[in-house]
Amino acid sequence: MSFTFNTTKSIVNAPNSSLNLAQYCENLNMTKVLLVTDPGIVKLGLHLNMLANLEASSLDYVLFSEVEVDPPMAVIENALAFAKQHQIDGVVGLGGGSSLDTAKLIAALTQSSQTLEQVFGVDKLLHSRLPLIQIPTTAGTGSEVTPISIVTTGEAMKMGIVSSVLLPDIALLDASLTVNLPPHITAATGIDAMVHAIEAYTSNIKKNPYSDMLAIEALKLMSKNIQQAVHQGSDLQARANMMLGATMAGQAFANAPVAAVHALAYPLGGHYHIPHGLSNSLVLPHVLKFNAPAAAPLYAQLADIIIPNIASTLTTAEEKTAAFIQYLEDLIINLNLPNRLASLDIPQSALTMLAKDALKQERLLVNNPRPMNEADILAIYHAAF
Ligand SMILES: NC(=O)c1ccc[n+]([C@@H]2O[C@H](COP(=O)([O-])OP(=O)(O)OC[C@H]3O[C@@H](n4cnc5c(N)ncnc54)[C@H](O)[C@@H]3O)[C@@H](O)[C@H]2O)c1
Ligand SMILES: [Fe+2]
Repeated sequence: MSFTFNTTKSIVNAPNSSLNLAQYCENLNMTKVLLVTDPGIVKLGLHLNMLANLEASSLDYVLFSEVEVDPPMAVIENALAFAKQHQIDGVVGLGGGSSLDTAKLIAALTQSSQTLEQVFGVDKLLHSRLPLIQIPTTAGTGSEVTPISIVTTGEAMKMGIVSSVLLPDIALLDASLTVNLPPHITAATGIDAMVHAIEAYTSNIKKNPYSDMLAIEALKLMSKNIQQAVHQGSDLQARANMMLGATMAGQAFANAPVAAVHALAYPLGGHYHIPHGLSNSLVLPHVLKFNAPAAAPLYAQLADIIIPNIASTLTTAEEKTAAFIQYLEDLIINLNLPNRLASLDIPQSALTMLAKDALKQERLLVNNPRPMNEADILAIYHAAF
């Protein structure tokens, strides 16, 4: 079997590791650091210890804290102008996927002759980037170990920039930053990460032994800890297990890409500003039911790992697959996530438009274990309605 596996060079998994940020910056020869984050993080003061640590060092630093959720192009362009103006030579992303994705693009484009518009798609970045450290504050996207940035273009479309240039140098996994993450964000971002592992494990083209190993370990960790992290958010061990699981799932899907769950989720985020993890959660059981005829052997393997007590009483792959999907449906309810499109003020009349939009996510749909056409997508949205 031929495959390539790439990941972030250094992964530091230690509570409070962000308190030594300056040391990590110096190790990468940064002298003027741009810290990229969003107003929610600033309001919570999650960045303050890091700024104090930079202040006490010999490094210069500037802060850009205007990242918006599902970052639109204008936000990235503002951040780029800010970075150029301040002549920074290193970037630190702090936050959820929105801040980390923005940080990646700043690192890639600050010293480049290319504009943001020129780099959408796969392998379009022509130049090397500035040193880049990523500090996730959600256990979700895995952006700290993926070669991907997602940007909202125009009114409602989400587009990817995919390039090995975007793989960060260091991922600092400091779970203490997530203990105050509210239950609904913990739940949605946690389901996003579990979907990364599930879709990597069934990815049609690039699935490989490394991505499988990481997806399985990620699902073990997250299925055991997601309920505790949501309902007992101060449990640092549960938080740390979720963070490590989300990063492992990120490593898996960075190499065995996600598929139809994400393809159908993106239009919900684009048109209705439904958070990324929640939009995944809304379509997840229905996409898996559609995929079951093709993917049952793999879903059955995941059932054996995640719900061994139930799976051991079942014999066929179809039975185990049904139990796996039921487990996920029950989990979504247990985490208090809404599970109907109708409950989010999406009109039924919009489903046709959403299906047309989802079909445009060819980059993702090619990875689905079962081919999906526009009529299939529409039927899935109706099932999720
Ligand atoms: N690069 C990738 O590989 C990849 C993969 C999947 C999704 N994404 C993208 O990532 C984005 C979603 O990222 P996300 O789900 O991590 O959320 P996010 O970055 O959009 O943040 C959501 C909200 O959570 C808040 N928040 C973050 N950390 C917090 C904390 N510790 N405590 C309290 N509040 C906190 C933020 O302030 C924000 O208001 C989307 O744009 C999505 O398309 C990227
Ligand atoms: Fe995702």
